[in-house]
Amino acid sequence: MKIIRKIEQMQEYIRKHRRAGKTIGLVPTMGALHEGHLSLIRRAARENDLVVVSIFVNPIQFGPNEDFKKYPRPFAKDVKLAVKAGADIIFNPGAGEMYPPGYQTYVEPGELTAGLCGAFRPAHFRGVVTVVIKLFNSVLADRAYFGQKDYQQAQVIKQMVKDLNLQMQIVVCPIIREKDGLAMSSRNQYLSPEERRSATCLHEALRVAKAMVSSGIKDAGKIKREIRNIIQSNLLAKVDYIEIVDAGSLEPVKQIKGQAAIALAVFIGKTRLIDNMVWG
Ligand code: PAF
Repeated sequence: MKIIRKIEQMQEYIRKHRRAGKTIGLVPTMGALHEGHLSLIRRAARENDLVVVSIFVNPIQFGPNEDFKKYPRPFAKDVKLAVKAGADIIFNPGAGEMYPPGYQTYVEPGELTAGLCGAFRPAHFRGVVTVVIKLFNSVLADRAYFGQKDYQQAQVIKQMVKDLNLQMQIVVCPIIREKDGLAMSSRNQYLSPEERRSATCLHEALRVAKAMVSSGIKDAGKIKREIRNIIQSNLLAKVDYIEIVDAGSLEPVKQIKGQAAIALAVFIGKTRLIDNMVWG
């Protein structure tokens, strides 16, 4: 295992391995690794000769009142977990390495960011795609792995790869859940025990939504109302959005036909959690 902190050193290391015919998988993370991240690393290890896990808490994807400062950074523990799951290299650049003085170039994503989290977190996806393309250019991977929990993020990144003709594959892996259904997230550790119990309402609402769609109810308004009722019956929960969108364009739909994503963002106390389910 190797920890690399400089972009040039990372590129040089990868070039050497590419010349030797090795395939490279990248798992971009902000650290605070959980089973969701580890499932991505394991998959990358199955599908590539060399696995790079990047750990970088990207300041430009956080809004001014968001949790950048308090975002957990258990680096030594992350390294151990990543290596155990199959990482060969940890890429851990500092903010000054990624955005040195005089830095001024940003990637602007398009309409896919108009709704869902994009509507509530202005500049978030601009920060995400900018850092992701910098990570792609640093690691020169054949494949990069992302979780479906951040459904909009995965779609926006796939679109960027297509639009900017990047020669790599984006692999989106299933949501990993706790036993009681809560989607794994680094932010779950902000929850108090009482909030942690309430947080299962996101999954519970999606489960009911899925049962409604399976039983033939296709009216998005009706399903959203039911989801809202379930979440609002929980005193600690406050809905940020509940949306049913076309799974490709992310545009809201009135009726569920073809592939649709049911996506939620809910505050449990001060912690904002997201979850989703893709239908069809
Ligand atoms: O999903 C995340 O953890 C982050 O948004 C990512 C993709 C690592 C970019 O900072």
